[in-house]
Parts: sequence; C-alpha cells; structure tokens
Amino acid sequence: MDKVITITGGTGSLGNQLVTTLLEELQIGEIRIVSRDEEKQLQMRRKFASSKIKFYIGDVRDIESLKRPFDGSDVVIHAAAMKQIDTCEYFPHETIKTNVLGAENVCRAAEGRTKRCVAISTDKATLPLNIYGMSKGLQERIFCGWSNGQTTYSAVRYGNVVGSRGSVIPYFKELRDKDLPLPITHPEMTRFWLRLKDAVELVLYASNTAEHGELLVPRMKASKIIDLAEVMSDQPWHITGPRPGEKLHEDIVSEDEARRAFSNGQYIHIQPVGVLVPPAIALTNSVASNTVEMLTKEELHKMLVEEGWL
Ligand SMILES: NC(=O)c1ccc[n+]([C@@H]2O[C@H](COP(=O)([O-])OP(=O)(O)OC[C@H]3O[C@@H](n4cnc5c(N)ncnc54)[C@H](OP(=O)(O)O)[C@@H]3O)[C@@H](O)[C@H]2O)c1
Repeated sequence: MDKVITITGGTGSLGNQLVTTLLEELQIGEIRIVSRDEEKQLQMRRKFASSKIKFYIGDVRDIESLKRPFDGSDVVIHAAAMKQIDTCEYFPHETIKTNVLGAENVCRAAEGRTKRCVAISTDKATLPLNIYGMSKGLQERIFCGWSNGQTTYSAVRYGNVVGSRGSVIPYFKELRDKDLPLPITHPEMTRFWLRLKDAVELVLYASNTAEHGELLVPRMKASKIIDLAEVMSDQPWHITGPRPGEKLHEDIVSEDEARRAFSNGQYIHIQPVGVLVPPAIALTNSVASNTVEMLTKEELHKMLVEEGWL
C-alpha cells in the first residue's frame, strides 16, 4: 500500500534528498513536509512539482502545529534541528527549545498518529562536548526511551554528510574559489564522511525495520581534515586551533554503547539503555573517527567529484 511519510525539517538537505528518493524509487502515497520558512517550501514546491507532496507550516516548538500533519502518517521522520555548532554554543536555551523540547513535542504529537517515528542524530551526540551534541544526545534519549503502545520510536546517528549546508566542504570550496588559504583547526583532526544518499538509505532502513528504542549507526570511513583540504585546494592551509566544543576525533559508538550494540554488517544496532546484548554478539570496541578505515586521497577525490564539489 502507498505510504504516507511526514518529514519535519523536510526542506533541508536531508529532506530534499529523501523526497527525491521517495518519488523516484519507491511507491509513495503522500509526503508531508513540516517546517517554518514558507520561502524554502515554495522553492521545493517548484523544484518537485508533485501533487504527492503536501506542505505544512509548523514549528517543532509548537506541538499543536504538528498534530495535523502527523495524523494518519505511516512514518514521521524528525529531521528539524538547530545544527550550526557556533549558534548552538551562543544560544543554548534556543537550542534546547528546538532540539530537546522539540523532540519531546514530536514524540508526544506522534503518539497514536503515526506507526513509526524516527529521529535523525549526529556523531556529535556521542560523548558530547558541545551544546549541539548535548542537545542531540538528549533527543536520542527522548526518542529511544519514549513509551507508547501504538507508535514505534527509534533514531539514527551518522557523521558528516558530504557538502551539507553550512559544513566544511562548501566553506573550503568558497575559499578555494577565492584563492584563499584553508583554515585547519588541528593537523590530526579526523571526521567521518557519508554521502547524502547513504544517509537517506539508513533513514529509510530505520523507518522500515528499527525496533522500538533502537539507535542505528552506519559503518562509515573517515579522513583527516588536512587530507580533505589538500584534495580540495592547491592553496597552502594554515592552523587556527580548535574551536570551542570541537573534538579532535568524533565518536560514533561509545564504550558503554558498544556493550549493548551488535552489528549486522552494514549497520550497528545500539539497544536502549538497560537492555543487555549477549557478550558473544556485542561489539567489542567503541568506534571513533581515528579508529576506523581512513579514506585515501584518491577515494576522497572520487567522492568529491561524484558529489559535485570538484
Ligand atoms: N548535515 C549533516 O552533516 C548532518 C550530520 C548528522 C546529522 N544531521 C542531522 O540531520 C538532520 C537534517 O539535517 P540537514 O542537513 O538536512 O539540515 P538543514 O539542511 O539545516 O535543514 C534543517 C531543516 O529543519 C527545519 N527547521 C529548523 N528549525 C525548525 C523548527 N523549529 N521547526 C520546524 N522545522 C525546523 C528547517 O526549515 P525552516 O528553517 O524553514 O524551519 C530545515 O528544513 C538534522 O537533525 C541534523 O542534526 C546532519
């Protein structure tokens, strides 16, 4: 049967790719987009020109604005967030309103209105150092601990999406195009990478299969930021020092989580707090961006070309 999928923050990078995939590859009944800015909705309406997409002005801070679009959904994908690290650092109270209280509103509004509800999280939520990561960590806990007999709640957590809005790749490209040197915070800094289509695949996998309270994590490769800079530009780079709340390496599965996680190959399934995974199948180690396989410069180059950044 054709499904009804609702996406909070559906006008963002992930939302646009999700809509592309849903319309092109899957039989879909209706896609509902919930966000605040009518201009982004107008652009998306023109871009897709599909009667299957319905737009709702809504704010995750306002539970009443979520009830109508959620009603009768098969899946609610919760992508709306404040995600700029510096903004979150300067405005923690605003970040809490959107990322934490907003998550609670989404869970509450989803009760009985949708069959499944999946939150999108980030590696920065694992052992968080900054306000963004802390708020997303709380979002994960709210989702994975929410109890309601009629709706299944889960979350996905992944690293940097290649070229997403406001991230390092568009920034490096802008500097390269202006022949300016690229700033590097630390020569050893590493980050996980995944393509938008891989993020979409994970989100759809979780939307179909995640058990109640599960947190799903993809297997990702990582790279040194300095390698990224050298692949993107011939300009010399310069060291600027770490920014507040920035880690040298990102964690994607903590030691504690590894004990209640198992891998099915492509994805790691972290079970809710308090659920034990038999030691025979539990992960043996935590996972961080300096402990996984590194992308070679050739692989980085290929990835950037394929994603349109080189
Ligand atoms: N990009 C990455 O590298 C990355 C990595 C890991 C996880 N994530 C997570 O993935 C999700 C999607 O990221 P993205 O890159 O698609 O973000 P994005 O492009 O910045 O889009 C964010 C979306 O959220 C909406 N939004 C913001 N505040 C809202 C509110 N209070 N109520 C309703 N809608 C709101 C925005 O639209 P309006 O401003 O019009 O409301 C926009 O549609 C986020 O939860 C992010 O934390 C992203």
